[in-house]
Amino acid sequence: MSKSAPKRRMITSALPYANGPIHLGHIAGAYLPADIHVRHLRSTGEDVLWICGSDEHGAAITLRAKKEGIPPREIVDLYHEEMQKAFTGLDISFDHYSRTSSPKHHQVAQEFFLNLMEKGGFEVKTEEQFFDEKAQQFLADRYIQGTCPSCGHDGAYGDQCEKCGKTLSPTELVNPKSTLSGSTPVLKPTTLWYLPMGRHESWLREYIVEGKLDGQPHHDPKTWKAHVLGQCRSWIEGGLESRAMTRDLDWGVPVPVEGAEGKVLYVWLDAPIGYITATMEWCEAHGQDWKDWWQDPNAELLHFIGKDNIVFHCIIFPILLKEHGGYNLPTNVPANEFMNLEGDKISTSRNWAVWVTEYLEDFPEGSDAMRYVLTAIMPEQKDSEFTWSDFRDKVNNELADVLGNFVNRVLVLTKKYYGGEVPTAPAQEDLTDTDRALLEALAAAPGKIGGLIQRHRYKEAQLEAMNVARLGNKYLTEQEPWKLQKTDPERTATIMHLTCQVVGNCAVLLEPFLPQTAAKLAAAFGLTDGRWADAQPDMVQAGTTLGELPILFAKIDDDTVAAQVAKLGQKGGDTTREIMPAKDEITFDDFTKLDLRVGTVLECEKVPKADKLLKLTVDTGLDTRTVVSGIAEHFKPEDVVGRQVTLLVNLAPRKLRGIESQGMVLMASTDDGGLRFVSPEEGVQPGDVIS
Ligand code: MF3
Ligand code: ZN
Repeated sequence: MSKSAPKRRMITSALPYANGPIHLGHIAGAYLPADIHVRHLRSTGEDVLWICGSDEHGAAITLRAKKEGIPPREIVDLYHEEMQKAFTGLDISFDHYSRTSSPKHHQVAQEFFLNLMEKGGFEVKTEEQFFDEKAQQFLADRYIQGTCPSCGHDGAYGDQCEKCGKTLSPTELVNPKSTLSGSTPVLKPTTLWYLPMGRHESWLREYIVEGKLDGQPHHDPKTWKAHVLGQCRSWIEGGLESRAMTRDLDWGVPVPVEGAEGKVLYVWLDAPIGYITATMEWCEAHGQDWKDWWQDPNAELLHFIGKDNIVFHCIIFPILLKEHGGYNLPTNVPANEFMNLEGDKISTSRNWAVWVTEYLEDFPEGSDAMRYVLTAIMPEQKDSEFTWSDFRDKVNNELADVLGNFVNRVLVLTKKYYGGEVPTAPAQEDLTDTDRALLEALAAAPGKIGGLIQRHRYKEAQLEAMNVARLGNKYLTEQEPWKLQKTDPERTATIMHLTCQVVGNCAVLLEPFLPQTAAKLAAAFGLTDGRWADAQPDMVQAGTTLGELPILFAKIDDDTVAAQVAKLGQKGGDTTREIMPAKDEITFDDFTKLDLRVGTVLECEKVPKADKLLKLTVDTGLDTRTVVSGIAEHFKPEDVVGRQVTLLVNLAPRKLRGIESQGMVLMASTDDGGLRFVSPEEGVQPGDVIS
């Protein structure tokens, strides 16, 4: 692709839902990588604009508001503030942070919708949808719970059963209930605007697979992450179905059509347009034209997101942009995978999370340390895991012992030997091979690190930047100027001059990763406004007077680690629980129809080609029978064998993956989508009746 270099880079990070505080998983996913990327671009003098904002609509908000019993407006106001505090605290340097509930955004999103409508971009359909007569409103999929038709799980949602993973539509649920009022919803006709995605399949395939748009090269697909391409491909291969772009809800951007009262835009036709609104706001404040960022072919668009947002940014939003016309499409969507925490998935409801503002209360100077560790374990290609002991090790062994120790020694020795003035540069012919190797490494570092950053390999980039300090540290230790100072002052000056250069380079090269540390180094070494191009083997002038340098990194002790681990899972954070509403009353006779027994699992194996299913052989006292259970994601076969379980034995047999299942093992579903056996107390045996 021999296009001239893009003049402008439009960069977005996923607008976080304003329904809860920001945790480390968010940061590692869509914000820290973008911040590193953008800081590097700014340092190289590129024209870059990075926007973000709060996503304040959608079921995520209204569900939270309902749980807390306060209006959605209060929820979004609260978390809009709270999230900004978290971002600022970790030096996430958006150019502009907006919000989608603003009147300006409503107008922009409505205009976008009308543009597509006038082009015939939607299919309008009237269909039956669940309506809650008590709450007097149509129910979004997430507001309906019931029994999964596929696995019998009782807490399945209108769009998906989280136990067996099956995608559902609300009408497939057995015994559907409104989570708003607990009542049984009724079907009522309503009109919806659908986006017929199937129409766009062929150009999308070309765009994703070949990186072409309208037959022209657009981007190099080889620069996209494999997991991003994989998800997009499987979506396209699976066939793109129409998706409703409106919802019957009272919180959101109203559908700007007469007779569409009580309808709002689907949040995915609203939030990504928030990127555009945010750009408009920034441009208005800075005397620029927003179209230069979104519509000029010489601008490029980059979306930073987590993997749960891939299809929206690679398929749905591009369809909207292309259908509207005039807009650029993303040249890359470098999505990250997920970060786990201390051996488990991050879970808001179980408070299994490290909340950024809480972290900063416990570690007020801890922004760089956390940025460093999160970058070192960034889930770029696969899921990763944060642990507090690893945090301690990286801070102590790498930041404190290598970087901190090195710059401190350089400063102390320069003060001691030269009254704090950087000594004279050595003559070329006086350089040893080791000196030359050090200078060569310095010369190569900016290009290497910058290249890795631009290829979205932030983890490696940081490693290379730290290697500069590591190299300086090793050089200083091996050259031992403290042994030479009396006998060979010239050699000592060379060593100290060169190590001062290393620190100067660190001030520039570490800036995208460790902005506070970089600023401290720059201040101590008299470097102002350092740019990437300033990182040179001779960047620090001889004669420069060095300033003061505070201790860069405090060491983390074991008690601190233990205290942080102990916090996990404790109350605080999100304590409100979502409880499945009660079912309709039944009679005693209904109950006695159930034949519940104690059973013992004799054997257990995975069902081939079914991720979720285990095949159990159970001693029921009556007989030995086979039960297929959708628990394979939660239990290994060896964990199940030997257990006593509660079993419904008179359920009509059903075939699952060709295996006849003769009964059902009772499980309790936990808040975070986990499962637990309902096991009887000791002293019972197979066949004992439960009633
Ligand atoms: N709010 C969504 C989430 O947190 C992401 C929205 S990204 C945008 O998953 F494109 F819609 F802005
Ligand atoms: Zn299910």
